[in-house]
This record gives sequence, structure tokens and C-alpha cells, in this order.
Amino acid sequence: MLFGDNTLCALCMLILSITHIDLSLSLGLARVELEPKLNTDVYYSYDGMLDYLDQLANDYSQRVVLHTVGKTYENRTLKTITITNGDGRTGKPVIFVVAGAHAREWLTPVAALYAVEQLVVGLEEHRHLLRDYDWIVMPLVNPDGYTYSRTVDKWWRSTRSPNGGNCFGTNINRNYDIGWRTGYAAQSDPCQEHYAGSEPFSEPETRAVRDIMQELVDTGRALMYISLHSHHTTVFYPWTYKSVPTDNAIKLREVAKSGAEAMHKATGTMFSYEQASLNDPFGGTSLDYAYSIGFPLSYALELSGQRNGNTFDFWPPTTLLKELAHESWVGISAMAEKAIEYYPTLSAETESATSQTRSSSTYSLTNIFKILLLLTAITILSQ
Ligand SMILES: *[C@@H]1O[C@H](CO)[C@@H](O)[C@H](O)[C@H]1NC(C)=O
Ligand SMILES: [Zn+2]
Repeated sequence: MLFGDNTLCALCMLILSITHIDLSLSLGLARVELEPKLNTDVYYSYDGMLDYLDQLANDYSQRVVLHTVGKTYENRTLKTITITNGDGRTGKPVIFVVAGAHAREWLTPVAALYAVEQLVVGLEEHRHLLRDYDWIVMPLVNPDGYTYSRTVDKWWRSTRSPNGGNCFGTNINRNYDIGWRTGYAAQSDPCQEHYAGSEPFSEPETRAVRDIMQELVDTGRALMYISLHSHHTTVFYPWTYKSVPTDNAIKLREVAKSGAEAMHKATGTMFSYEQASLNDPFGGTSLDYAYSIGFPLSYALELSGQRNGNTFDFWPPTTLLKELAHESWVGISAMAEKAIEYYPTLSAETESATSQTRSSSTYSLTNIFKILLLLTAITILSQ
């Protein structure tokens, strides 16, 4: 026997208390992590949105990262938030969500930030959506237009770049290089809200989105793109610029349908789902562009603008923001679940683990070591 009984008991107590301290530390940390709270009682300014993202990136630095991806005509910074489950596995396919292309559709950045909160703060509930997938969310792609809509002209829809004369703005969802200016004539009129721009990708905002899409395609990570709009209450899928169906039209439709049905089941709101060109085809949309370069799933999700028989156009009262944002999350998450079912990845293909994975396994190894030590001590003690 190496130690006296008293020494052994003291050792046991020490080991137990260290394990206990570790446990309460991690519990305390979890409580601190719940702090950043999305305020759905107001429509945030763009700065308010960036503040919220900063807070999340700060509090969840292990699994959230912000990227500056461009600059608007009025020099506002364009940002994305990349959300992972923190396991450090790289190269996962991505679900890419972009909101606020149309300035007056104020509900869409709220819905995007709500989705971000669900994925980050609500990770436990949504682990399956992040196990083999990362999410990139751009809550507001048109902050110039949004700010103008909030402060000058509520109905503003486009960017704020000058077109000559006294005419401003390009419609972001007509500016992509896919069937550009196909369809109705107003897309060529620089004084109309339908203006498709002086050329494809004339706008820094669309170029920023294009570059993210292209990188995801080039690295084999492009799974699903969702552009949030309001208030058609419809899930649209490609093509928009021509009437022929896509090669995987059935899957596109099934994913759209699962979103529409989930929202209907949750709130009673009837969402349609259809190929976007069903009426009059038009060009330059982000959903067509994403699909054309290699996203197998691509959508414009038109959120609801109504409740209990009342129509609110693009600006539902703030008292309804939370439930409308939740409704959209029900749709987005249902679509993600279906996308995962259709395009599963091999969870066995583990790639390079980062320090975080290592540190979490170190943590459990440490605990196992402590337990072994404790058992040894008990064994010696009982002899
Ligand atoms: C954006 O910043 C550049 C460089 O500082 C400046 O030259 C330009 O005038 C700014 N644009 C606007 C619209 O403020
Ligand atoms: Zn729109």
C-alpha cells in the first residue's frame, strides 16, 4: 500500500470536486450562451442586424463566423454568417439563404435572422440540420435599398445605384446572368423598379452573392439556395426565365411541397409551390442562376403577408413578426430536411478535425482518466 487511508480519501474528494467543478463550469457557460436574443418586437435597422450578428459571432465563436463579402454602392458592408455545429469537419455541403433582395420586403431579413437564431442558439433542437451540413445566411443583401425604404420611400424595391437622369436603382432579382432581360420590357427602363441593370452583375450586391455561390459550386458544396421574398405565399423553383421543366423537377417540387405543407400544418397558411415561369417567364433571377451553375436545389420562398384575413403587404405589424418568422422557419427547416433526404452525404467521410474536436475529446479523455484514477484509488483502498 502506497498511501494511508486518509490520503486516499482526500485524493478521492479532490478528484470528485475537480469533476464537479468542470461540470458546473460547462453549465454556467451554457447559461451565458443563451444571452444574445433576437428582438422581433421591432424592424431592425441594418446596423441593428449587424450588431446582432456580431453578438452571436462573439458568443458562439466555436461554431459561427462572419464574413465580409462585399460593399454596396453606398459603401455599406455586406456580411454573411456561416453556421456550423462546431465539430470542425470541413467541406460539408451548404444551405445558402439570402434575404432582402427587394428593399421593401421587410419581413425577409427578420425571417433570415430568426432562422440564424434557431440554428445557432437552438442548436440542440436542430442538430440534424447541421450534422453533415453548414449554413450560410446573408440576412440583408440590399441594405442601401432597405435603408432607403425605411427612411424615405417605403415602397422602394431596388438598389440605390444611379442610372443617369434622375433615376436610381437596379432590381437585384433581375440582375443575374441567366436569361438576362428575358421577358417584359420594363426591365430595360432605368427609371422603373424592374430595371435589370446596365449589364448582368452590374450591381456589387449581386456580384457578392454570385461569388459565394461560385465558390460553393467549385468546392462541391452547393446543396440548396433559398432566396427569401414576400408576400406571394408561394415556394417558387426554377426555371423562371423559360417554361421548360428542369432535369430534377420532381425533386425540386417535392422539396418545395414539403416546405409548403409543413407551414400549412403549423399555421394554417396555404402556400403554393410551383415552377416560377408558370405565368410570364422573366430573366436574371438568383434562383435560376444558382440552379444554372450547379445548386441542385434552388428556391424563391415568398413569405406570407397576411394573418386572420388581414393583408399587410410587405409590412406586417411588429406584433406578428415572431409568428410569421417562425412560420418561415418551419418551411425552411422542412425543406432542409427533405434536401438532406434527397442528397445525403456520407457521415463516414470524416475530414481533418480541428483543435476544437481535439479539445472536446481531450475533455472526455480527461474525465475517463479521472474516473479510472478514482476506481484505482477505491480498489487500493478496499484492499
Ligand atoms: C464610397 O467610398 C469611396 C471611397 O472612400 C468614395 O470615393 C465614394 O464616394 C463613396 N460612395 C458613396 C456613395 O458614398
Ligand atoms: Zn421580392
